[in-house]
Amino acid sequence: MRIVVTGGSGQLGSEVVRRVRELGHVAVPASRRWGVNVTTGQGLGAALTGADAVVHCASSPWRPRATDTGGTEQLLAAVAAMPRPAHVVHVSIVGCDANPYPYYRAKTAAEELVMAAAVPATVVRATQFHTLVAALARASTLGRAHLALDAAAQPVDVGWVARELVDHALGSPPAGAVRALDLAGPEVLTVSEAVSAVRDHDGRPRTRAVRMPTLGRTLRAFAQRSNLPGPGAVVGGPSFTDWLAGQPAPAGR
Ligand SMILES: NC(=O)c1ccc[n+]([C@@H]2O[C@H](COP(=O)([O-])OP(=O)(O)OC[C@H]3O[C@@H](n4cnc5c(N)ncnc54)[C@H](OP(=O)(O)O)[C@@H]3O)[C@@H](O)[C@H]2O)c1
Repeated sequence: MRIVVTGGSGQLGSEVVRRVRELGHVAVPASRRWGVNVTTGQGLGAALTGADAVVHCASSPWRPRATDTGGTEQLLAAVAAMPRPAHVVHVSIVGCDANPYPYYRAKTAAEELVMAAAVPATVVRATQFHTLVAALARASTLGRAHLALDAAAQPVDVGWVARELVDHALGSPPAGAVRALDLAGPEVLTVSEAVSAVRDHDGRPRTRAVRMPTLGRTLRAFAQRSNLPGPGAVVGGPSFTDWLAGQPAPAGR
């Protein structure tokens, strides 16, 4: 099969490209690096020629309305114009519709476009990737303290998410647009637990939690655990703890 991967240079997209090729199929990575811009639609038609499926990973938390919502609109129009529209496997975020954070609002609007489009499509939501939780844990630490937001995550391994997405892309396309089961990792951690796990891994002393007030609707949504999956999620891949154990120690340690 021929599978186009928008955002094929990104964290998730590059894993999707790798997995497609590992299984002996043709992967066509598509992002600005290859002259494909989902925001403007430039290069999309050419990249889609002959495609059986598209795994749509192009995204930008900094320009979410243009990239995630507008880019999805452009992609859907280009797919609808194909003689035989490809199956769009659209990646989204667990709980995005319950959080007013602008990036999540753009993801929700993109999902709505996909669900309303007249092309075969599968919307797959995933929880935060291990890499993101580790980066946030490091960023929330200052000296001997960390900002302990009232929040938790059930982070997931990006390589495992890629395998699940490729399975969707290689499967039979649905007749219209459908929502697949959410994807999540096996372990739930509070912010302080994630910070401690990362500090232990980095060989640094644990830090004191400084409670952060739950101000505003975005933080309240996280405090309500809206980013955690429901009981029907597909849970898999290594836990955060096991994933961390496999990561190299930071330089200088
Ligand atoms: N990170 C997480 O924790 C997480 C969790 C759940 C779901 N997701 C979802 O998974 C998807 C991928 O996330 P990621 O973390 O892998 O993102 P990422 O590493 O930031 O990669 C984003 C990709 O989008 C491409 N891109 C950005 N603007 C573009 C444009 N205008 N046209 C074409 N391509 C563009 C980038 O490539 P160029 O710069 O070459 O254009 C890059 O390949 C997103 O939909 C995200 O919402 C992420």
